Amino acid sequence: MFLFARRVDTPGPKATTSFPVVCSLLGIADIPAYCEFSRGESPLTVRRRLAAGHICFVARRNGRIVHARWAAFRNVWINYLNCPLSVAADEVYVYASHTACDMRGRNLSPTCADWMIQNLKRRGYRRLLAVVVPENKWGVRAIQKAGYHQLSTLGYIRIGPWRHDFFRASNMPVIPGKSVLTERARWLLSPGRFTRMPPWLPPSAANTPLVENPGDHTQ
Ligand SMILES: CC(C)(COP(=O)(O)OP(=O)(O)OC[C@H]1O[C@@H](n2cnc3c(N)ncnc32)[C@H](O)[C@@H]1OP(=O)(O)O)[C@@H](O)C(=O)NCCC(=O)NCCS
Repeated sequence: MFLFARRVDTPGPKATTSFPVVCSLLGIADIPAYCEFSRGESPLTVRRRLAAGHICFVARRNGRIVHARWAAFRNVWINYLNCPLSVAADEVYVYASHTACDMRGRNLSPTCADWMIQNLKRRGYRRLLAVVVPENKWGVRAIQKAGYHQLSTLGYIRIGPWRHDFFRASNMPVIPGKSVLTERARWLLSPGRFTRMPPWLPPSAANTPLVENPGDHTQ
Protein backbone atom coordinates (compact mmCIF):
# COMPACT_ATOMS: atom_id res chain seq x y z
CA MET A 1 0.00 0.00 0.00
CA PHE A 2 1.06 3.55 -0.60
CA LEU A 3 0.47 5.84 2.37
CA PHE A 4 -0.28 9.39 1.26
CA ALA A 5 -0.43 12.54 3.36
CA ARG A 6 -1.55 16.08 2.87
CA ARG A 7 -1.50 19.13 5.10
CA VAL A 8 -4.78 21.00 5.20
CA ASP A 9 -3.08 24.39 4.94
CA THR A 10 -1.44 23.85 1.55
CA PRO A 11 -3.25 25.17 -1.55
CA GLY A 12 -6.31 23.16 -2.53
CA PRO A 13 -6.81 21.11 -5.69
CA LYS A 14 -6.93 23.22 -8.83
CA ALA A 15 -9.26 20.92 -10.76
CA THR A 16 -13.00 21.52 -10.56
CA THR A 17 -16.05 20.10 -12.32
CA SER A 18 -17.55 21.77 -15.38
CA PHE A 19 -21.05 21.37 -13.88
CA PRO A 20 -22.64 22.44 -10.58
CA VAL A 21 -22.05 20.13 -7.65
CA VAL A 22 -23.41 20.41 -4.12
CA CYS A 23 -21.20 19.02 -1.35
CA SER A 24 -22.55 18.09 2.08
CA LEU A 25 -22.21 15.66 4.97
CA LEU A 26 -24.08 12.39 4.85
CA GLY A 27 -26.89 12.17 7.40
CA ILE A 28 -28.96 9.25 8.65
CA ALA A 29 -31.75 10.12 6.21
CA ASP A 30 -29.30 9.82 3.29
CA ILE A 31 -28.28 6.23 4.05
CA PRO A 32 -30.61 4.56 1.49
CA ALA A 33 -29.42 6.94 -1.26
CA TYR A 34 -25.80 6.33 -0.26
CA CYS A 35 -26.20 2.54 -0.32
CA GLU A 36 -27.78 2.72 -3.76
CA PHE A 37 -24.84 4.84 -4.93
CA SER A 38 -22.13 2.67 -3.36
CA ARG A 39 -23.58 -0.60 -4.67
CA GLY A 40 -22.33 -2.90 -2.00
CA GLU A 41 -22.11 -1.11 1.33
CA SER A 42 -24.94 -2.09 3.65
CA PRO A 43 -27.02 0.33 5.73
CA LEU A 44 -25.66 -1.42 8.82
CA THR A 45 -22.06 -0.70 7.80
CA VAL A 46 -22.89 2.94 7.17
CA ARG A 47 -24.72 3.27 10.49
CA ARG A 48 -21.78 1.69 12.32
CA ARG A 49 -19.34 4.10 10.73
CA LEU A 50 -21.48 7.11 11.61
CA ALA A 51 -21.95 5.80 15.15
CA ALA A 52 -18.16 5.48 15.43
CA GLY A 53 -17.83 9.18 14.62
CA HIS A 54 -16.74 8.80 11.01
CA ILE A 55 -17.85 11.55 8.63
CA CYS A 56 -18.99 10.94 5.07
CA PHE A 57 -18.59 13.76 2.56
CA VAL A 58 -20.82 13.50 -0.48
CA ALA A 59 -21.10 15.43 -3.72
CA ARG A 60 -24.45 15.58 -5.49
CA ARG A 61 -25.33 16.46 -9.03
CA ASN A 62 -29.01 17.32 -9.53
CA GLY A 63 -29.71 15.71 -6.16
CA ARG A 64 -28.04 12.39 -7.00
CA ILE A 65 -24.98 11.29 -5.01
CA VAL A 66 -22.14 11.05 -7.51
CA HIS A 67 -19.11 10.99 -5.21
CA ALA A 68 -18.48 10.06 -1.58
CA ARG A 69 -15.52 9.74 0.75
CA TRP A 70 -15.16 8.91 4.44
CA ALA A 71 -13.06 10.41 7.20
CA ALA A 72 -12.07 8.47 10.33
CA PHE A 73 -10.20 9.58 13.43
CA ARG A 74 -7.67 8.21 15.92
CA ASN A 75 -7.10 4.46 15.71
CA VAL A 76 -8.44 3.15 12.44
CA TRP A 77 -8.57 -0.29 10.95
CA ILE A 78 -7.03 -0.77 7.50
CA ASN A 79 -8.80 -3.64 5.79
CA TYR A 80 -6.19 -3.95 3.05
CA LEU A 81 -3.46 -4.54 5.62
CA ASN A 82 -5.65 -6.29 8.17
CA CYS A 83 -4.23 -4.19 10.96
CA PRO A 84 -4.82 -0.97 12.86
CA LEU A 85 -3.10 2.32 12.10
CA SER A 86 -2.49 4.93 14.78
CA VAL A 87 -3.71 8.34 13.73
CA ALA A 88 -2.71 11.40 15.75
CA ALA A 89 -5.30 13.68 17.33
CA ASP A 90 -4.85 16.34 14.64
CA GLU A 91 -4.90 13.86 11.75
CA VAL A 92 -7.71 12.37 9.70
CA TYR A 93 -7.70 9.09 7.84
CA VAL A 94 -9.61 9.42 4.55
CA TYR A 95 -10.95 6.22 3.03
CA ALA A 96 -13.49 4.71 0.62
CA SER A 97 -13.37 7.52 -1.94
CA HIS A 98 -15.73 6.57 -4.69
CA THR A 99 -17.17 8.23 -7.80
CA ALA A 100 -20.18 6.85 -9.68
CA CYS A 101 -18.91 4.86 -12.67
CA ASP A 102 -20.60 7.09 -15.24
CA MET A 103 -19.12 10.23 -13.67
CA ARG A 104 -15.44 9.33 -13.42
CA GLY A 105 -12.74 11.47 -14.97
CA ARG A 106 -14.77 14.69 -14.46
CA ASN A 107 -12.90 16.07 -11.45
CA LEU A 108 -15.52 15.09 -8.91
CA SER A 109 -12.89 13.61 -6.64
CA PRO A 110 -10.71 16.75 -6.33
CA THR A 111 -13.78 18.97 -6.09
CA CYS A 112 -15.19 17.03 -3.14
CA ALA A 113 -11.67 16.70 -1.69
CA ASP A 114 -11.33 20.48 -1.64
CA TRP A 115 -14.65 20.89 0.18
CA MET A 116 -13.69 18.18 2.65
CA ILE A 117 -10.28 19.76 3.32
CA GLN A 118 -11.84 23.15 4.12
CA ASN A 119 -14.38 21.48 6.39
CA LEU A 120 -11.75 19.48 8.29
CA LYS A 121 -9.47 22.51 8.54
CA ARG A 122 -12.29 24.45 10.26
CA ARG A 123 -12.62 21.56 12.72
CA GLY A 124 -8.95 22.00 13.67
CA TYR A 125 -7.36 19.04 11.89
CA ARG A 126 -3.93 19.57 10.36
CA ARG A 127 -3.13 16.58 8.19
CA LEU A 128 -4.97 14.02 6.08
CA LEU A 129 -3.81 10.45 5.51
CA ALA A 130 -4.97 7.93 2.93
CA VAL A 131 -3.82 4.60 1.55
CA VAL A 132 -4.12 3.39 -2.03
CA VAL A 133 -3.04 0.12 -3.58
CA PRO A 134 -0.25 0.79 -6.12
CA GLU A 135 -2.18 -1.02 -8.87
CA ASN A 136 -5.06 1.47 -8.56
CA LYS A 137 -3.72 3.95 -11.12
CA TRP A 138 -6.81 6.15 -11.13
CA GLY A 139 -6.89 6.15 -7.33
CA VAL A 140 -3.23 7.19 -7.18
CA ARG A 141 -3.81 9.86 -9.81
CA ALA A 142 -6.90 11.21 -8.00
CA ILE A 143 -5.08 11.48 -4.70
CA GLN A 144 -2.13 13.24 -6.30
CA LYS A 145 -4.52 15.69 -7.97
CA ALA A 146 -5.93 16.45 -4.53
CA GLY A 147 -2.47 17.57 -3.40
CA TYR A 148 -1.36 14.56 -1.38
CA HIS A 149 2.15 13.19 -1.64
CA GLN A 150 3.43 9.74 -0.89
CA LEU A 151 4.74 9.32 2.64
CA SER A 152 5.63 5.65 2.63
CA THR A 153 4.94 2.15 1.40
CA LEU A 154 3.31 -0.26 3.84
CA GLY A 155 2.73 -3.94 3.51
CA TYR A 156 3.16 -7.36 4.98
CA ILE A 157 4.18 -10.87 4.08
CA ARG A 158 2.24 -13.66 5.70
CA ILE A 159 3.07 -17.34 5.91
CA GLY A 160 0.68 -19.22 8.18
CA PRO A 161 0.80 -17.62 11.64
CA TRP A 162 3.96 -15.72 10.79
CA ARG A 163 3.49 -12.19 9.61
CA HIS A 164 6.19 -9.71 8.67
CA ASP A 165 5.15 -6.07 8.40
CA PHE A 166 7.28 -3.64 6.48
CA PHE A 167 7.37 0.10 6.33
CA ARG A 168 9.43 2.09 3.86
CA ALA A 169 9.44 5.88 4.03
CA SER A 170 9.44 7.43 0.56
CA ASN A 171 12.56 9.54 1.04
CA MET A 172 14.43 7.30 3.46
CA PRO A 173 16.32 4.05 3.25
CA VAL A 174 14.42 0.84 3.90
CA ILE A 175 13.35 0.46 7.53
CA PRO A 176 13.50 -3.22 8.38
CA GLY A 177 10.14 -4.65 9.26
CA LYS A 178 9.21 -6.46 12.42
CA SER A 179 8.32 -10.11 12.75
CA VAL A 180 5.19 -10.31 14.80
CA LEU A 181 4.92 -14.00 15.61
CA THR A 182 5.84 -13.40 19.25
CA GLU A 183 3.51 -10.45 19.67
CA ARG A 184 0.70 -12.23 17.90
CA ALA A 185 1.10 -15.37 20.00
CA ARG A 186 1.13 -13.31 23.20
CA TRP A 187 -1.97 -11.45 22.08
CA LEU A 188 -3.83 -14.62 21.13
CA LEU A 189 -3.23 -15.95 24.64
CA SER A 190 -4.25 -12.72 26.35
CA PRO A 191 -7.72 -12.15 27.85
CA GLY A 192 -7.99 -8.80 26.07
CA ARG A 193 -7.80 -10.28 22.60
CA PHE A 194 -11.49 -9.76 21.88
CA THR A 195 -11.46 -6.08 22.66
CA ARG A 196 -8.25 -4.75 21.18
CA MET A 197 -5.53 -5.50 18.67
CA PRO A 198 -1.93 -4.43 19.22
CA PRO A 199 -0.51 -1.99 16.66
CA TRP A 200 1.79 -4.35 14.81
CA LEU A 201 2.35 -1.78 12.15
CA PRO A 202 4.63 1.09 13.04
CA PRO A 203 2.40 4.03 13.97
CA SER A 204 3.76 5.71 10.90
CA ALA A 205 1.25 8.49 10.70
CA ALA A 206 1.61 9.63 14.26
CA ASN A 207 5.38 9.37 14.30
CA THR A 208 6.27 11.18 11.12
CA PRO A 209 6.87 14.89 11.55
CA LEU A 210 4.44 17.37 10.11
CA VAL A 211 7.15 18.81 7.88
CA GLU A 212 6.67 17.65 4.34
CA ASN A 213 8.16 18.67 1.08
CA PRO A 214 5.56 20.62 -0.88
CA GLY A 215 7.69 20.08 -3.96
CA ASP A 216 6.47 16.50 -3.99
CA HIS A 217 2.91 17.56 -4.69
CA THR A 218 1.58 16.68 -8.12
CA GLN A 219 -1.31 18.85 -9.17
C1 LIG B 1 -10.41 6.95 -7.86
C2 LIG B 1 -11.71 7.66 -8.14
C3 LIG B 1 -12.39 7.99 -6.81
C4 LIG B 1 -11.39 8.98 -8.86
O1 LIG B 1 -12.57 9.72 -8.95
P1 LIG B 1 -12.83 10.74 -10.16
O2 LIG B 1 -13.97 11.61 -9.73
O3 LIG B 1 -12.93 10.04 -11.44
O4 LIG B 1 -11.47 11.60 -10.12
P2 LIG B 1 -10.84 12.47 -11.30
O5 LIG B 1 -11.92 13.03 -12.17
O6 LIG B 1 -9.90 13.41 -10.66
O7 LIG B 1 -10.04 11.41 -12.16
C5 LIG B 1 -8.80 10.93 -11.67
C6 LIG B 1 -8.11 10.17 -12.79
O8 LIG B 1 -8.85 9.01 -13.04
C7 LIG B 1 -8.74 8.68 -14.44
N1 LIG B 1 -10.08 8.35 -14.88
C8 LIG B 1 -10.94 7.70 -14.11
N2 LIG B 1 -12.08 7.42 -14.79
C9 LIG B 1 -11.94 7.95 -15.96
C10 LIG B 1 -12.79 7.99 -17.08
N3 LIG B 1 -14.00 7.40 -17.10
N4 LIG B 1 -12.36 8.66 -18.15
C11 LIG B 1 -11.17 9.23 -18.12
N5 LIG B 1 -10.30 9.18 -17.08
C12 LIG B 1 -10.69 8.54 -16.02
C13 LIG B 1 -8.05 9.83 -15.11
O9 LIG B 1 -6.71 9.44 -15.32
C14 LIG B 1 -8.08 10.93 -14.08
O10 LIG B 1 -6.91 11.73 -14.08
P3 LIG B 1 -6.79 13.02 -15.06
O11 LIG B 1 -7.88 13.97 -14.70
O12 LIG B 1 -5.45 13.56 -14.82
O13 LIG B 1 -6.97 12.49 -16.48
C15 LIG B 1 -12.65 6.82 -9.05
O14 LIG B 1 -11.92 6.38 -10.17
C16 LIG B 1 -13.26 5.63 -8.32
O15 LIG B 1 -14.35 5.74 -7.74
N6 LIG B 1 -12.57 4.46 -8.37
C17 LIG B 1 -13.06 3.26 -7.66
C18 LIG B 1 -12.83 3.39 -6.15
C19 LIG B 1 -11.38 3.71 -5.84
O16 LIG B 1 -10.48 3.15 -6.42
N7 LIG B 1 -11.17 4.63 -4.84
C20 LIG B 1 -9.83 5.10 -4.46
C21 LIG B 1 -9.19 4.29 -3.41
S1 LIG B 1 -10.05 4.31 -1.86
